Amino acid sequence: METGLARKTGIVTGAGSGIGAAIASRLIAEGANVVVADINFEAAEAQVEALRSEGGNALAVRANVVYEAEVVAMVEQTVSTFGAVHILVNNAGLTRDMRITKMTDADWDIVVDVILKGSFHCTKAVLPYMNEQKWGRIINISSRAHLGNPGQANYSAAKAGLIGFTRAMSLEAGRNFVTVNAVAPGIINTEMIRSLPHWDKIRENAEKTTPIPRVGEAEDVADAVAFLASERASYISGDVLHVTGGRY
Ligand SMILES: NC(=O)c1ccc[n+]([C@@H]2O[C@H](COP(=O)([O-])OP(=O)(O)OC[C@H]3O[C@@H](n4cnc5c(N)ncnc54)[C@H](O)[C@@H]3O)[C@@H](O)[C@H]2O)c1
Repeated sequence: METGLARKTGIVTGAGSGIGAAIASRLIAEGANVVVADINFEAAEAQVEALRSEGGNALAVRANVVYEAEVVAMVEQTVSTFGAVHILVNNAGLTRDMRITKMTDADWDIVVDVILKGSFHCTKAVLPYMNEQKWGRIINISSRAHLGNPGQANYSAAKAGLIGFTRAMSLEAGRNFVTVNAVAPGIINTEMIRSLPHWDKIRENAEKTTPIPRVGEAEDVADAVAFLASERASYISGDVLHVTGGRY
C-alpha cells in the first residue's frame, strides 16, 4: 500500500533510543528523511549512523525539548537540511515513579515539562511550516497511563494532558490539512520499562492479563505512527490509537 511518505521529512524527538528509534527506522524504511532529535546527542548520532547504513537520509540533532530556543534551532536545522518539515512525532518522555506523598516538585516538574511543555514547543515551532505547505502530521506519544496508574500521578497527568493537547491542536490545525493524533502504548519492551525494579514480574503479569498475551515491542508502536503519518490517514484527526494488545 502506497504510504506517500517517500521524500517527506519527519522530526522524531527522543529518537536516540527505544520507541523513538524504532519510529525513526520505520519512517526511513518508507523513504522519509528523518531528524533524530534527543537530549542525548551521542545516542542520536549512533541511531543516525545505523539509519545511514540502512541507506536512509538522517540527521542527528541535540535538543532538550523543554527549552524553546533549542526546539526552534532544531526545526530551523531540519528545514535548512531537508527543505521542509512534514511530520512531527512528540515522543520524548521519561518517568519519575513514586507515591504522591514522596513525590517532590522536581519529580513533578521534569515529567510534566518534558511531556507537555516539550510537545507544546515542538508543535508551535513546526506548525507555521505545515500550515504554509497545507500538509502536516503531528503524532503525540501518550500512554495507556492516561487512564491513571498508581505511582505515576505525574506521568498519568502529563499523558492525559497530552490527549487534551492533541484534541485542541487538531481543531486549530485541521483547516490547513494538518492532522494531529495521539498513540497510547501499553507495556512496551524498552529500556524505560526494563529498568523498573520488578520488570520480570511486570512482564509475566502482562503475558497473563493482556488479551494478546505478550508485551509490546517498539516496532508495534512504530507501525501505528507510520500509519497515522501516511497519506492513508489523511481524514483521521484528534484521535487516540491504543497500542496495548487490547489491555485497558
Ligand atoms: N516503554 C513503554 O512501555 C511506554 C509505554 C507508553 C508510552 N511510552 C512513551 O513512549 C516514549 C518513548 O519511551 P521509551 O520507552 O522509548 O523510553 P526511552 O527512555 O528508551 O526513550 C526516551 C528518549 O527520550 C529522550 N529524552 C528524555 N528527555 C528529553 C528531553 N528533555 N528532550 C529530548 N529528548 C529527551 C531520552 O534521552 C531517550 O532517548 C515516551 O514518551 C514514553 O512515555 C513508553
